[in-house]
Amino acid sequence: MKLCFLLLQLALLGTQTTPVSGAAVVATSTTRRNEENNIVVPSTAMLARCPKACGNLSFAYPFGIGSGCFRAPEFNLTCVDGGIPRILFVDGITEVIDGDTSEPSGIDVGWSQLINIAYNSTIPVVSGVDVYNMSSWSPPGRSFVLFGSSINVMACGFDVYLLDHDTGTSSNVCSTTCPGGQMTETAALQNCNGTWCCSVRFFINFQGFQFSFVRRRGEDDSRVVDHSSPLWNKISVTTNYARLMWRVLDQPTCADAEGDAATYACISNHSSCYDTSLTHAGYQCSCNGGYLGNPYVRGGCSRDKGN
Ligand SMILES: *[C@@H]1O[C@H](CO)[C@@H](O)[C@H](O)[C@H]1NC(C)=O
Ligand SMILES: *[C@@H]1O[C@H](CO)[C@@H](O)[C@H](O)[C@H]1NC(C)=O
Ligand SMILES: *[C@@H]1O[C@H](CO)[C@@H](O)[C@H](O)[C@H]1NC(C)=O
Ligand SMILES: *[C@@H]1O[C@H](CO)[C@@H](O)[C@H](O)[C@H]1NC(C)=O
Ligand SMILES: *[C@@H]1O[C@H](CO)[C@@H](O)[C@H](O)[C@H]1NC(C)=O
Ligand SMILES: *[C@@H]1O[C@H](CO)[C@@H](O)[C@H](O)[C@H]1NC(C)=O
Repeated sequence: MKLCFLLLQLALLGTQTTPVSGAAVVATSTTRRNEENNIVVPSTAMLARCPKACGNLSFAYPFGIGSGCFRAPEFNLTCVDGGIPRILFVDGITEVIDGDTSEPSGIDVGWSQLINIAYNSTIPVVSGVDVYNMSSWSPPGRSFVLFGSSINVMACGFDVYLLDHDTGTSSNVCSTTCPGGQMTETAALQNCNGTWCCSVRFFINFQGFQFSFVRRRGEDDSRVVDHSSPLWNKISVTTNYARLMWRVLDQPTCADAEGDAATYACISNHSSCYDTSLTHAGYQCSCNGGYLGNPYVRGGCSRDKGN
């Protein structure tokens, strides 16, 4: 099941170049740094000292926490340990979350180039103000692309506009009504159908999104709207579902990357490189058939024992 998914994903995202012989990759015991691109390729000994989990969410190089543990600044994670530990990307607002519980949770470098994420933003609403702008959300670095997402907007009586930065125009993507009566946030989110809550879907999105909210005519009228409703005084934007696809961007293609042995990311034996044709730049690594593990670390791909 997982393997089918991986193969499908690779077929979708990339074209394989000639498999690279593991022996061509020079084993080294020292951490290498490429100052120009800020790339860190840690030694096996260094990696052994790096954290591998935050609470029950795991991650692996090229992602990491702490100096020398991640490949490039965009893969620098933070573990926020307040109650339930949370992993944040460098933007400080995009969070890594549990996937399907039957799969390993966190960032599963060996299996998937997709990461389940969550993001939310709340804007206070006041009487007499009819237009609100959300600050834009972008993927937490150029190495990431928003790949499939559904965003829920909870608001009481607003038209939701999506701003298009390329054209400077905006379009009405969904609207909410505010029928009055009591409604909990949980119930509104569960039934995000246009009453109190509406949702916006994206497939592939490079730039992120920015919404503005315009109060619907008559919806600020206290004869129509119950101002004591818990949903009246704010607009909440939350991800119902969102995934980031990531790639190694320090070289545009596998062919370019293979030319620089010091920074080539597909460092494990028995791994191959794939151009991310979908995104027109960058590459991804994968263990070869019959091998499992992390293709981005030395000796990371090991024989699939089969089970
Ligand atoms: C991870 O931890 C959180 C809180 O500590 C818990 O709610 C969740 O069920 C855990 N997930 C798994 C897969 O163990
Ligand atoms: C990684 O990110 C954290 C939090 O943003 C920052 O404090 C730290 O300096 C970064 N580490 C490196 C080595 O850049
Ligand atoms: C929204 O984000 C805050 C912190 O960024 C977090 O504490 C809260 O649980 C999140 N809420 C939802 C509904 O995801
Ligand atoms: C919201 O953003 C739009 C487009 O960028 C701008 O024209 C408008 O003045 C902003 N409104 C507020 C209330 O910030
Ligand atoms: C829409 O969701 C609300 C709860 O948010 C529910 O009360 C209402 O019955 C739903 N309407 C339809 C047509 O499903
Ligand atoms: C390649 O993998 C084999 C085991 O499959 C291991 O013995 C060998 O040391 C590895 N070579 C390098 C260069 O890592």
